[in-house]
Amino acid sequence: MADTPKYPKYIWMDEEFVPFEKATVHVLSPCARNAANVFEGIRGYWNSDRNELFCFRLPEHYKRLFESMRIMHMELPYSIENHTEFLLETLRKNEIREDVHIRHQVLVNGIGLFSATEPVSMFIATMPRQSSPQIEKGVRCCISAWTRISDDSVPPRVKAGSNYQNSRLAQIWARKFGFEDAILLNNNGKVAEGPAACVFMVRNGMLITPSVTQGILESVTRETIIELAEKEMDLEVIEREVDRTELYVAEEAFFVGTAAEVKPIIEIDGFRLKSLDSGSLTRRIQRCFFDVARGYNPKYADWLTPVYGA
Ligand SMILES: Cc1ncc(COP(=O)(O)O)c(C=O)c1O
Repeated sequence: MADTPKYPKYIWMDEEFVPFEKATVHVLSPCARNAANVFEGIRGYWNSDRNELFCFRLPEHYKRLFESMRIMHMELPYSIENHTEFLLETLRKNEIREDVHIRHQVLVNGIGLFSATEPVSMFIATMPRQSSPQIEKGVRCCISAWTRISDDSVPPRVKAGSNYQNSRLAQIWARKFGFEDAILLNNNGKVAEGPAACVFMVRNGMLITPSVTQGILESVTRETIIELAEKEMDLEVIEREVDRTELYVAEEAFFVGTAAEVKPIIEIDGFRLKSLDSGSLTRRIQRCFFDVARGYNPKYADWLTPVYGA
């Protein structure tokens, strides 16, 4: 297991397969100068029993990509079906037969100023990547001194490269002071999310997560966990404002996201949680999630898109 991505031979760029080294944009493009891009992070899971790679919840990812493009004024003529086909072709061209993390990005190309809205380009990079060891070990977090961006300035609902400068500050700061990750509060002082993941806590046996108007990305994994907890584990999930000190007295907490998957949080600002205990809700939710994502739970087969047509 490793966090470092491997790189593919070909990157899909504007309807062509470009060798990895040649997949570049100009240094003066609005994308390079001002982070004018929106993107999706998507996972594919290899199922060795079925000899198949399954992409997780593609329609939901592309719906969110369209919403990000709409809010950030970037237009392309492609449908969800087009995006899906481009991605599947790229995975097949690179002969990916292992777990993979995909960056599917739309950007303002050319040589323009920060408010340019064209020309718009797109690339798809398919990078083999296993789960992080933190899935097993969990992470020690702090509450960040950096506040999450908000809908009245840089909307966190949009999955834009620029938003990750806020995430970057929070994560660098956390690591500099001996933590592994951070949880950011929103501009009302309530819990928002991690630098690249949403947060759930278990308090008095109930599963609670900040609602989508708390300054968070509308996460595909968060929706997945809510549905699985309710349908598979008979739990009611509460979406509401969460106070910082509620995290201190929670029994368990975990991050969820495409890259984070379901990652236990074992400590917040020095307060120990029981997320790694055997029989914890976090562990049960992890198992349920991976069964579904890897194609071992037939009830959720329509969340998976097979790449090689098994
Ligand atoms: C800031 C932020 N929140 C939440 C998430 C989780 O979203 P998703 O489950 O759609 O990957 C991400 C994922 O990259 C993220 O960057």
